[in-house]
Amino acid sequence: MKYTDLCNSGVEKLMTYEPGRPIEEVARELGLDADSIIKLASNENSLGPSPLALTAMSQLAESVHLYPDGGAYYLRQAIAAKLGVKAGQVLPGNGSNELIELLGHAFLGPDAGIVMADMAFVVYRLVAAAEKAPVISVPMQDYTHDLDAMLAAIEPSTKIVFISNPNNPTGTMVSGEALDAFINSVPEHVIVCVDEAYIELLAPDQQPDMLKYIGTNHKVVVLRTFSKAYGLAGLRIGYAVADAECISLLHKVRQPFNVNAMAQAAAIAALQDDEHVARSRNMVRDGLAFFEQEFSAAGLRYVPSVTNFIMVEVGNGVKIFEAMQRRGVIIRPMAGAALAGWVRITVGTPEENRRCMQALIESIAQEMR
Ligand SMILES: Cc1ncc(COP(=O)(O)O)c(C=O)c1O
Repeated sequence: MKYTDLCNSGVEKLMTYEPGRPIEEVARELGLDADSIIKLASNENSLGPSPLALTAMSQLAESVHLYPDGGAYYLRQAIAAKLGVKAGQVLPGNGSNELIELLGHAFLGPDAGIVMADMAFVVYRLVAAAEKAPVISVPMQDYTHDLDAMLAAIEPSTKIVFISNPNNPTGTMVSGEALDAFINSVPEHVIVCVDEAYIELLAPDQQPDMLKYIGTNHKVVVLRTFSKAYGLAGLRIGYAVADAECISLLHKVRQPFNVNAMAQAAAIAALQDDEHVARSRNMVRDGLAFFEQEFSAAGLRYVPSVTNFIMVEVGNGVKIFEAMQRRGVIIRPMAGAALAGWVRITVGTPEENRRCMQALIESIAQEMR
């Protein structure tokens, strides 16, 4: 008997998540100097980690022989104070990815499924599949969540609606007003999970306020991460904000020490680093303007983005990705038939953006020969 005969039937059918390729792997494979490669593939922060987080990490390094605080007390306090919620309404996780998984463990199953947009963040689909939960995939309109269609798609068995806002990979967002109307219309048995991984990169007056629902009768779970605006992707730290009853259920399905000590210390410090977030936001704003102008000049179709990545249509996404990789620029080809002609590029520093654009133009020219 094979392992595949033994495993949970949801698992065998799962596709393996393909992350952006690490610089060292590409260097090894193509015989390139790692220092000459740039990675604009995983929506990381090219400004690097928050400097306050770096200092906190070096101070903590001497005590990593001790287990972390399993309850992440100080981090929960810091997040709660920053957001104006209660500490019992916050659960940190090993990246916001872990929180998506915990939601799956706690709420999904063969009779308890999800509604999501067809081009929304793929992890929702993977987590549901692992729980053998049905997935209702609703087509986007203009690469944007179609909330009316998502509302109409909800079934009695639907437990969670996932909305990534802004959405990865399309870079689009829905307005706070549209979300308010949606949240006020969903049936009582449905949890609305608003994944705000990129929210801090929006200008403050552009950030929809979903935290106002926490502690009300509305079942809203907000997910956030330190991987993007705060530049801490390598530490794996994100958090959920929800009603305390929901958070206590998620505690039951997490590991005892799900957030490491370094990540807790860095995140507490990073939360105070408004300057780093503001610099990151400005870098993204200028970088998006650069790419949009260059794409237009080159006659390339793109989806206008509000965040730190942008999708552009290039013909054959995988071929262009490979050609750019040979030029030392790692981007992301889009999976799935609907987006096979597209790639997603993370906005980097001005120098990285220029190099990326040059590699893109050369790669397209080469593929057309
Ligand atoms: C929309 C969205 N949600 C969640 C995540 C997961 O982020 P992390 O696990 O690094 O917190 C990502 C990462 O790219 C994302 O794009």
